[in-house]
Amino acid sequence: MGSLVKTARGLLGQTGELMRAVGLKGRAFVVTDQNVYAYFGQPLSESLAQAGFEPVVNTLNPGEQTKTLRSLEVLYDWLVDARAERSDVVVALGGGVVGDLAGFLAASYLRGMSLVQVPTTLLAQVDSSIGGKTGVNHAKGKNLIGAFYQANLVIIDPAVLTNLPQREFRGGLGEVVKYGVILDAELFDLIEAKQVEILKQDTPVVDYIVERCADLKMKVVGEDEREAGPRMILNFGHTIGHAIEAATNYEALLHGEAIGIGMSGAAQIAVQLGMLDSASCQRLQALLKTLGLPYAARGLAWEVVRDGMSLDKKTRAGKINWVLPTAIGTVEVTDQVPDDVVESVLKTLLNA
Ligand SMILES: NC(=O)c1ccc[n+]([C@@H]2O[C@H](COP(=O)([O-])OP(=O)(O)OC[C@H]3O[C@@H](n4cnc5c(N)ncnc54)[C@H](O)[C@@H]3O)[C@@H](O)[C@H]2O)c1
Ligand SMILES: [Zn+2]
Repeated sequence: MGSLVKTARGLLGQTGELMRAVGLKGRAFVVTDQNVYAYFGQPLSESLAQAGFEPVVNTLNPGEQTKTLRSLEVLYDWLVDARAERSDVVVALGGGVVGDLAGFLAASYLRGMSLVQVPTTLLAQVDSSIGGKTGVNHAKGKNLIGAFYQANLVIIDPAVLTNLPQREFRGGLGEVVKYGVILDAELFDLIEAKQVEILKQDTPVVDYIVERCADLKMKVVGEDEREAGPRMILNFGHTIGHAIEAATNYEALLHGEAIGIGMSGAAQIAVQLGMLDSASCQRLQALLKTLGLPYAARGLAWEVVRDGMSLDKKTRAGKINWVLPTAIGTVEVTDQVPDDVVESVLKTLLNA
């Protein structure tokens, strides 16, 4: 029971019509943040009103510190005061922060309202808006509270990426490169060939890439909605990446930047285990470098990163499931990685 995902330039202005076409009705409770509202609040509200939805907008402070139970409480109060009904729609207009928060709001209020995701960052378009993971952070850890809840509709308009700060865009490209390595060698070739054009953000290549990655994510999660097995390959680069994010308090690096380092680490582990040729590993690192993503990090103690890895949610019965490339375009999952291999790669990666 996956979501209906629509991808095309200009779709944001058709949000209302698209919602009607899938049978949604009632009031539209739009959750967004101040940055996104400034660009797209008006056109979205107009589109909703034109299609007969009554838009009500709640604009939050931008940033990860908004993804909390406290914000959720404010949003519940808002829905209670407005007497929102189960058949009304929550519309998440923004990046992954807004999407995760508003998604969990829709999942939990009245045990489930209708939900439409309108992702506005590259990361949200190719990753977080698809797959149904919603939730908020706890003071003791990221994404600890949440639910799987599929949106009725995901509306992806690559034109909105024009205004995205370049660093955020590059961070999103980390996930894009990930899809190339785990599933699609041709996509990897394309990113390599068109890197200069891609970094311009407002270009047809980006439209193609967004659509391709959204399709790949839908396919993978469609086979495995609750993350029992196949979906694990999406975790490529995330074992080390998440540990680096935690070790730097989610402040120094963007998610995609940490994943860049993590992908480079996983590729090096694969080389040491004889699963991957070193030329492919170097190709990956060179691509990350030209996209402005790090492939190593200085100044972190490798032991801290190692300890952080075992706390990851994807660890099963104390064993880390490593997603390792065997070529550009294919990966294998294994829990058979010797500790000394992990140690030597982490030391190289963190310049110990
Ligand atoms: N649910 C999932 O499967 C999943 C997957 C990956 C990440 N996430 C979550 O996503 C969050 C990160 O999301 P993000 O990277 O999108 O960050 P974000 O939502 O904080 O957005 C980044 C910044 O860009 C601004 N912005 C958004 N769209 C813009 C636009 N079109 N033009 C100009 N500025 C714009 C925002 O206001 C914000 O300042 C994290 O909380 C992470 O845990 C969830
Ligand atoms: Zn990720």
